[in-house]
Amino acid sequence: MSLFITFEGIDGAGKSTQFRLVAERLQQLGYSVCCAREPGGTAIGDQIRQLLHDVKNKEMTAEAEILLYSASRAQLVREFILPHLANGEIVLCDRYADSTYAYQGYGRKLDFAMLRWLTNFATQGLRADLIVYLDLDVTEGLRRKATSPEALNRMDQLGRAFYEQVQQGYLEMAKTEPERWLIVDAAAPIAEMNQLICQRIEKMLRFVA
Ligand code: TYD
Repeated sequence: MSLFITFEGIDGAGKSTQFRLVAERLQQLGYSVCCAREPGGTAIGDQIRQLLHDVKNKEMTAEAEILLYSASRAQLVREFILPHLANGEIVLCDRYADSTYAYQGYGRKLDFAMLRWLTNFATQGLRADLIVYLDLDVTEGLRRKATSPEALNRMDQLGRAFYEQVQQGYLEMAKTEPERWLIVDAAAPIAEMNQLICQRIEKMLRFVA
C-alpha cells in the first residue's frame, strides 16, 4: 500500500510544521514514511534550488524559472518518489505540481495547457493522492514572513497582488477537485489543524489497507 501526499500553501502558511507533525504521527502509527521537498530533494535538485532561490538571479525569465522547477521535479520523481511508492511507502512532499499551477500559472500567467503538458512530462503523470492546502490570508502570510528569521529567497520578493493570485488559484483548484484536496484554515491552532489533516489521512489509509 502506497500513498502520495503533498502539502501546499502560500509562503508563511506553516506548511513545514504540519508536514513534520504528520510525518511523525504516521511513523508512530507504524507506517514507513519518506519525506521530500520541492524544489530540491535530490543532489541535482538541490543545485537547481540554489539557482531558483538566489536573490542575485533577478534577470531569470518566467520561462527559465518553470523549466528549472520542472527539471528539479523530474529528478525527484524518478530518483526518489516513484521508487519509494513502488516499495509500498507513504511519500510526503512539501510542494509539488500544484505549486507550479499556482505560482507559474495563476501568479506568472504562463499558459495552463503548456504547464499541464510540461508537468505531465516531468512527473510521468504521477499525481498526488491527497493535497493538503494550508489556506492563509495574504496579509498574515506577509506579516509572518517579515518577522521570520529565515533569509528571503527570490520568490519571497514578489508583491501582494502576486500572492493574492496564487491564493485564488489554490482555492479554485481545490474547489474543482474536493476529493483530492483538503483545505485547512492556516489561522487555526497548530494542534487543531494537525488533527484535521491526520483524520483525513487515516481515513484514506483505512480505505486503501
Ligand atoms: P521554499 O523556501 O521551499 O519555501 P516554502 O517554505 O514556502 O515552501 O520556497 C519555494 C518557493 O518556490 C516558494 O515561493 C514557491 C515557489 N515555487 C514555485 O514558484 N513553483 C514551483 O513549482 C515550486 C515547487 C515552488
